[in-house]
Amino acid sequence: MKVLIADKFADTGIEALRGLGCDVDCNPELKGDALTQAVKDSNCQVLIVRSTKVERTTLEAGEDLKLIIRAGSGFDTIDFEGAAELNIRVCNCPGMNSVAVAELTIGLMVALDRRIVDETVDLRRGVWNKKEYSKARGLKGRTLGVVGLGRIGYEVAKRAKAFDMNLIYCDVVAQSKSEAELGIKKVSFEQVLSEADFISLHVPGGEGTRHVIGRDELKRMKPTAFLFNCSRGGVVDQEALAEALRDGVIAGAGLDVYENEPAASDKEFKDPVVHAPRLYGTHHVGASTEQAQDAVAEEVVRIVQAFKTDGEFLHCVNPASPAAT
Ligand code: MLT
Repeated sequence: MKVLIADKFADTGIEALRGLGCDVDCNPELKGDALTQAVKDSNCQVLIVRSTKVERTTLEAGEDLKLIIRAGSGFDTIDFEGAAELNIRVCNCPGMNSVAVAELTIGLMVALDRRIVDETVDLRRGVWNKKEYSKARGLKGRTLGVVGLGRIGYEVAKRAKAFDMNLIYCDVVAQSKSEAELGIKKVSFEQVLSEADFISLHVPGGEGTRHVIGRDELKRMKPTAFLFNCSRGGVVDQEALAEALRDGVIAGAGLDVYENEPAASDKEFKDPVVHAPRLYGTHHVGASTEQAQDAVAEEVVRIVQAFKTDGEFLHCVNPASPAAT
């Protein structure tokens, strides 16, 4: 079975795929037309991607392509509806990197409250400013509002509980098990906006969640509140956020994801949002711990194995419609 990997992928995973008898090609730099050409030339049956976008033209080039695996949990970078029409299944790896994303979210929360990045930059410039940096409000007793209490939201809330934070969440479904375990309370989105000191977004990307946080929502937050987005860039209206930070509408923001994010192989990112005051940003690395990437690779191998041996599609996000079969 021919497998094409068009993204960075753990070596352990590549070895395990070869151990299954797959013929594996790996080129993390592939994207756009080059990806389309590689899919065509390789006659791959399985394509594995992480951040690399997979568009309709690439799908159409894959004459033997049967399965695309998203080595992560979100799959908004893949035209999964187009794939369904072409009878190509898309599978993801849910939950494998939740802890890693939660760890980064908590890291950003503490970093922003304590202004760790500004302090470090000042220290490196030879500046000592204990007075300026002695104004943190602290996490204990503050309210964390989680928007979307799925796997990642749950891991964030669990860690915030250890900081003695008050926990509230909003979600389209009630998460009663998490409510009982963590003492987290379901409230409306409105209440999260108006009551939380720290708001963390954990919803899937795509049209349904575009600009969940925009100008109006930012205005309804406390002026002392911090906003965190380690989910998908489009969930926050970045222009509105930059404006809100400049005008002091909210106290700060931590972003790991951006609208119009560059591809993993790109070397530049010139979005003006990164210059907004009190914005701490990372490079979409929430899922990028060694532990998480090894777990994702293991899951990818399990998906390939199930397909190779039993023709099964584990964690399929675009099942065949009756019309396509
Ligand atoms: C995810 O959807 O799980 C993450 O975006 C994965 C990643 O960064 O590779």
